[in-house]
Amino acid sequence: MEKYLREIHENVTSWIHEIVPFVQKAVRNKLTINTKSSDFDIVTDVDKKVEQFFREKIHQAYPSHGIIGEESDNTNVKNSFDCLWVIDPIDGTTNFVKQKDHFCLLISFYEKHVGQLGYMYDVMNHDFYYAIRGHGAYLNEKRIEKPAPIRLREGLVSADILAWSQHRLFAELLDRSFGYRYFGCSGIDSIHVINGKFAAFVSTRSGPWDLAAQLIFAEEVGLKSSKFDGSPVNYTVGGDWILANEGCYEEIVELTKRF
Ligand code: IPD
Ligand code: CA
Ligand code: CA
Repeated sequence: MEKYLREIHENVTSWIHEIVPFVQKAVRNKLTINTKSSDFDIVTDVDKKVEQFFREKIHQAYPSHGIIGEESDNTNVKNSFDCLWVIDPIDGTTNFVKQKDHFCLLISFYEKHVGQLGYMYDVMNHDFYYAIRGHGAYLNEKRIEKPAPIRLREGLVSADILAWSQHRLFAELLDRSFGYRYFGCSGIDSIHVINGKFAAFVSTRSGPWDLAAQLIFAEEVGLKSSKFDGSPVNYTVGGDWILANEGCYEEIVELTKRF
């Protein structure tokens, strides 16, 4: 790995280990909760503090880099910088508030729009996932192997249940699978595809922060990812996307193309 990337990787690793105890402690404390686009779209003081923490660290270490973060105004960021970071400070805020489980931190680093470093931290399980372009993906420093092929008929599919109720074809997709499971956290649902427990995760309304890190993992562990029409996912835009095991991707995209 190039020296500058190793340095960035070491920095991000230490930042994550510095902020995680704060989040673990915050789970047990009273949270300040505000709503965003609707009564069910919530943000806590912890989401904002974690994003601010990463922003300050990045600005200090790499002042010329741009940042796309869920809890900030990202107008014009994507076209103005060669080096871009994407942050979801708490992915799965509803789970964080209601379950105190099944949420994670997502952060990634892109250079000239090529994903270099991706990080996911499953807070309650203390599981640290990272992916380095060309060097593989790791869980707690142990290399993650490419999952064995899973055919749709044999696999579990994760999808946003609200989207499922809005699209008739979602019912067909899930009907063709072995079964349906959904955590409600893009990172945790994706982790289950990465470790071969799920065949696919299909999502309709993702922000850049919901998928940028996972796209780098997909490359490193040999998973397929695309938009519903089969075109590449733009990590600065988000939208609909599929993360799938190679054994069922073609069958899934044949269906989602008709959505
Ligand atoms: C949400 C979660 C959820 C997914 C939504 C995301 P947030 O992220 O990942 O699973 O279905 O699309 O917005 O808002 O909790 O960071
Ligand atoms: Ca999210
Ligand atoms: Ca979030």
